[in-house]
Amino acid sequence: MAPQPTRDDQFSFGLWTVGWQGVDPFGGATRDVLDTAEAVHRLSDLGAYGITFHDDDVVPFETGLRDAAERDRILDKLRKALDETGLQVPMVTTNLFSHPVFKEGGFTANDRGVRRFALRKALRQLELGAELGAKTFVMWGGREGSEVDVAKDVNAALARYKEVVDLLTTHIVEQGWDMRIAIEPKPNEPRGDILLPTVGHAIAFTHTLEHPHLVGVNPEVGHEQMSNLNFTHGIAQALAADKLFHIDLNGQHGPKFDQDLVFGHGDLLSAFSTVDLLENGFPGGGPRYQGPRHFDYKPLRSEGTAGVWTSAEANMATYLLLKERALAFRADPRVQKALEEAGVLELSQPTLSEGETLADIKADRTAFEDYDADAAGARHGGQVLLDQLVVEHVLGAAG
Ligand code: GCO
Ligand code: MN
Ligand code: MN
Repeated sequence: MAPQPTRDDQFSFGLWTVGWQGVDPFGGATRDVLDTAEAVHRLSDLGAYGITFHDDDVVPFETGLRDAAERDRILDKLRKALDETGLQVPMVTTNLFSHPVFKEGGFTANDRGVRRFALRKALRQLELGAELGAKTFVMWGGREGSEVDVAKDVNAALARYKEVVDLLTTHIVEQGWDMRIAIEPKPNEPRGDILLPTVGHAIAFTHTLEHPHLVGVNPEVGHEQMSNLNFTHGIAQALAADKLFHIDLNGQHGPKFDQDLVFGHGDLLSAFSTVDLLENGFPGGGPRYQGPRHFDYKPLRSEGTAGVWTSAEANMATYLLLKERALAFRADPRVQKALEEAGVLELSQPTLSEGETLADIKADRTAFEDYDADAAGARHGGQVLLDQLVVEHVLGAAG
């Protein structure tokens, strides 16, 4: 039996996840429209603490543009559902990808009018987020990129990206909002190549900004794995750089289209090391992730409405099961011994002693001339045992 989620677990869901009707490039909807208030109530009943949304998930694009009164009415319904359930809105984001106007980009479209339109759309969602108490504003640039290398001036595109992020962070500072921006990297899909394709690219970009401390990343499991990268290492580097502002948990089977499976329904061992890091932190201490555990997945297109809620529950159940396993893993004396043998904890010790200089180590014959490199090279690793202990804990066979 999986443990029951509670609000302390900080599980949140995008409204676009449970609300996905199954439309893909090859076929139409397989499920009916899900009412926003119903989604909020169902997620609350299942144990989530928050929901997140794009502007267009709640207010249709056309309505948002031309019918202020109807927009207010729809948003009031959302506010009511939030009040009734006590659910929070920890994050909001802007849809700058569905409407044809964004076919060539949003903030980095070649067309300046499109860029100005995208900025206004994002600004309005930022304002709504601030009003609803969101702490994170996600920027996923699915249409920022190209299929044709020579059709995009990447230098100019990054300058335009920076221009917008600087404008928004300056606004946040001026308004005194407790909000930060998280860039969500993805290598491709829908564009052939998306700008800021990986966690590393995005972190590097944040250092070019006006308010770098207000801009971090929102890594998604599947997006890094689409590039065959190690997701846990990616979020680890983000955490080490104080850039892990938010996280999109889901599942993916290696490099292929973005599958958005239930968390853990892809690479389960990677999901384990992710939860181990999020819940237990680095083995040698260091920064800890405090934010929401946000699921950005798609209920399988083959499922009906019941399957939508089964899959929502499955995300949380899998996370909590892995959390149990990760706590037991770290507490297991055999694991402690194996960590010791593999030298994992020794890595926290600085390479030079306190006060030691480069000149000192140069003069230290034991570090080089007299160092027994052959003996060090012959020492056993102890790593396979650690991996097996992970497998045994994940399979519930470690008791
Ligand atoms: C995707 C992305 C999106 C974003 C969302 C937030 O691959 O479609 O993961 O789901 O997370 O648009 O801006
Ligand atoms: Mn995705
Ligand atoms: Mn995502």
